[in-house]
Amino acid sequence: MIQINGVTKVYGNGIKAVDNISLEIKDGEIFGFLGPNGAGKTTTIKMLTGILPIDEGTIVINDIDISDHPIDVKRIIGYVSDNPNIFERLKGIEYLNFIADIYNVSKEDRKKSIESLGEKFEMLNALNDKIQSYSHGMRQKIVVMGVLLHNPDVWVLDEPLTGLDPKSSFILKDMMRKHADSKKTVMFSTHVLEVAEKVCDRIAVINKGKILFVGTMDEMKKQAKQESSLEKMFLEMTDNE
Ligand SMILES: Nc1ncnc2c1ncn2[C@@H]1O[C@H](COP(=O)(O)OP(=O)(O)OP(=O)(O)O)[C@@H](O)[C@H]1O
Ligand SMILES: [Mg+2]
Repeated sequence: MIQINGVTKVYGNGIKAVDNISLEIKDGEIFGFLGPNGAGKTTTIKMLTGILPIDEGTIVINDIDISDHPIDVKRIIGYVSDNPNIFERLKGIEYLNFIADIYNVSKEDRKKSIESLGEKFEMLNALNDKIQSYSHGMRQKIVVMGVLLHNPDVWVLDEPLTGLDPKSSFILKDMMRKHADSKKTVMFSTHVLEVAEKVCDRIAVINKGKILFVGTMDEMKKQAKQESSLEKMFLEMTDNE
């Protein structure tokens, strides 16, 4: 479970990217973090994963406070960042072994996982090539494979479906469903309304650093009819598609 309590982030240039937000993401649900470009999704996720310090408020993941015990929290989180352009000089397999080493995945377990993930995402043939030769979607896949390799309880994914082909996107969505169904935590961000509608049990809508809505997609549609700011947001996101 992820508990975000009154969290704020102000960047050096004075931009309040996240403004006093509170959210609870429960085990067993796929939670969508929905908002347009610049809404504050990535900033929130970077605080959740311990990459950015929190200015105000607290974040507690599986009962561990991220500011007090950053390493303990990082061990249980699987994080896919919004930028898959990493370790480009490594071969895919070297990258996966590197991640497996960091998270102490045994030789036996990693072999099994790499084989099954490689097959699922059709990446087995590419593993001996350098990441710099990969397409955007392949980079995205190798990062996702690295995250799933150490079998983390809590998945935090920043726009994970961007750049994936339909088949890989389907596989990842299916894996998110199974992970949530096994009573684990899945949170991901998207600016695509349709994705949130199809995949998420609950969503939070964020804009300009503030949470406008938390609940199911049906509830959001109802509320959008009554609240002009939410309706405007809804229409903007529909327009984008
Ligand atoms: N490192 C930074 N320094 C200063 N301002 C930043 C920084 N990163 C983000 N911002 C600003 O903070 C706000 C929120 O950005 P953020 O990246 O969290 O949005 P987002 O919802 O992830 O958007 P997108 O859909 O484009 O990924 C924006 O106004 C952005 O310009
Ligand atoms: Mg972002």
